Amino acid sequence: MSFQIKSFQEYKDNYKKSIENPESFWEEIANNFVWKKKWNNVLSWDFSKPEIKWFEGATLNITENCLDRHLETRGDKTAILWEPNDPKEGVIKLTYKELHSKVCAFANVLKNNGVKKGDRVCIYLPMIPELAIATLACARIGAIHSIVFAGFSATALASRINDAQCNVVITSDGSYRGNKTIDLKGIVDDALESTPSIQTSIVYKRTGAAIEMKANRDVWWHEELEKVNDQCEAEEMNAEDMLFILYTSGSTGKPKGMVHTCGGYMVYTAYSFKNVFQYEENDVYWCTADIGWITGHSYILYGPLANGATTIMFEGVPTYPDGGRFWEVVEKHKVNQFYTAPTAIRALEKQPIELVNKYNLSSLKVLGSVGEPINAEAWHWYDDNIGKNNAPIADTWWQTETGGIMISSLAGVTPQKPTFATLPLPGIQPVLMDAEGKEIETTEAEGRLAIKFPWPSIARSVYGDHQRYKDTYFSAYENKYFTGDGALRNKEGQYRITGRVDDVIIVSGHNLGTAPIEDVINEHDKVVESAIVGFPHDIKGNALYAYVILHDGVEGNDTLRLEINSQIADSIGPIAKLDKIQFVSGLPKTRSGKIMRRILRKVAAGEHKSLGDISTLLNPEVVDEIINGVLV
Ligand code: PRX
Repeated sequence: MSFQIKSFQEYKDNYKKSIENPESFWEEIANNFVWKKKWNNVLSWDFSKPEIKWFEGATLNITENCLDRHLETRGDKTAILWEPNDPKEGVIKLTYKELHSKVCAFANVLKNNGVKKGDRVCIYLPMIPELAIATLACARIGAIHSIVFAGFSATALASRINDAQCNVVITSDGSYRGNKTIDLKGIVDDALESTPSIQTSIVYKRTGAAIEMKANRDVWWHEELEKVNDQCEAEEMNAEDMLFILYTSGSTGKPKGMVHTCGGYMVYTAYSFKNVFQYEENDVYWCTADIGWITGHSYILYGPLANGATTIMFEGVPTYPDGGRFWEVVEKHKVNQFYTAPTAIRALEKQPIELVNKYNLSSLKVLGSVGEPINAEAWHWYDDNIGKNNAPIADTWWQTETGGIMISSLAGVTPQKPTFATLPLPGIQPVLMDAEGKEIETTEAEGRLAIKFPWPSIARSVYGDHQRYKDTYFSAYENKYFTGDGALRNKEGQYRITGRVDDVIIVSGHNLGTAPIEDVINEHDKVVESAIVGFPHDIKGNALYAYVILHDGVEGNDTLRLEINSQIADSIGPIAKLDKIQFVSGLPKTRSGKIMRRILRKVAAGEHKSLGDISTLLNPEVVDEIINGVLV
């Protein structure tokens, strides 16, 4: 692909062009891909509706770009390098030819099981090659994949299946995570009790656990494969046809299915992958995310594969068999680009340094960070100990909704600055908004981060609820996409993301909406009301602190805390568990009845001396009680 930016000057030139003439800029980039038919129009957009269309009239299949086009020149190159949970189990290397053949064969399995273009398929699998194969097989036949992270509970899985009305679910008998084996099929069975749209579940045998296969619903992956060949024509998709739905947290309990489409998503993920990570033909690239999150969709699968890269999929966890696992894998596979999350860096920083130093990390050329702001200490630890001050760090800011990396240095090409995501990628036009909702014109500023022009991989809608898409992202500021983040900009125009300004809290790099968790707590029959805030945590970045009001006469104790947390784990997943639960008699409220979360946040963070003016509260007396009972 001929769109690699190799110098800061080239970046500046490209950025300028992308702003002055976005259509011709993106058209030139799009010309690097295989289209069945080219577009009539590069871009049409109207943020007030909102309606955004890229490469209208064009047709393509993203798997032809990720697989078929490489067969001639890279057929025997490793596409996916799979590293198992247990290092004693062998690695799997799938070449582009092998991956192509497996994707086509499984696409035929889907067809045999009645899946058609436009159908929604839920994928609930661990990080095994079959997750990649199933995903690409959906794309091959034009089915819309909805991958649900396999750490979500049965209730969360069911609500996502129901929201998208999936007719097929793909799962495995179980999964391995560190020294644990998880009964994935059992979770799916529970979920399927309340998902009438599901006709079939396809089950891959991973652990060999004794599971129940339900007649007329459950089929084995390996048995279905015996019935098909590996020839499967790629479905012709319109550029604006849906490629996938991916759920993200929001301000209500209902999951928000972000819709991504085929053409623009492909162009932008491939372009950003190449430029941010400066991937070269024989490099081995490793992103440690799970494919159940957007990072895995865009930067384990689609972006790297569209570039013909070798991409690692890791089934395990950073601390198994010990805290040196990441570095062992880097040495073993001579990883060149390594992309992980600040929460993982902070956790590994706490391990004995010998677990880093015993491995040869000299293959590393580029380091990446994603998911939350990276604090200065973690940034320097990463730079000193992993990159040996010799591998540029790309701190990549983006979101499920943006589809691809928006603000980041291009590793080694544009300047880096600790704790700053730095500059926008070409085509991205960030703005900072002030408290009055006006765009801040000065370069050096702090405000709320919005984007004023569309880019190819912006989500097009919330599945089944376009109004919610409009309300969430396009109502805060006229004609702008609102990110939900705060940011500051220095005089060089570099951005530092300061964190969420809405009711989403980022815990260990995962987005958690406060409302859905509060809903679950409030369902407990001993609870009247609750409020959740984030508080700073050494490893997780933020952890959850809950203030809970109980019914009269009910005693708040540790048993109740365990019950509340297990209810959360069952309804959402263990990632949403609370670190601290304080029982209180009331919550500080404004005269209009709104909970003053600012106060709760300060108290939880141990900053009760700087609460500011609380005289406008309806019930200022509860503040003292809350301060006195704070859990440290
Ligand atoms: O608050 C920002 C934070 O993560 C949010 C998006 O979360 P999600 O949709 O789950 O996607 C995560 C992976 C792209 C953002 O609104 N965030 C993500 N990356 C960064 C970040 N905050 C600061 N710096 C980052 N590099």
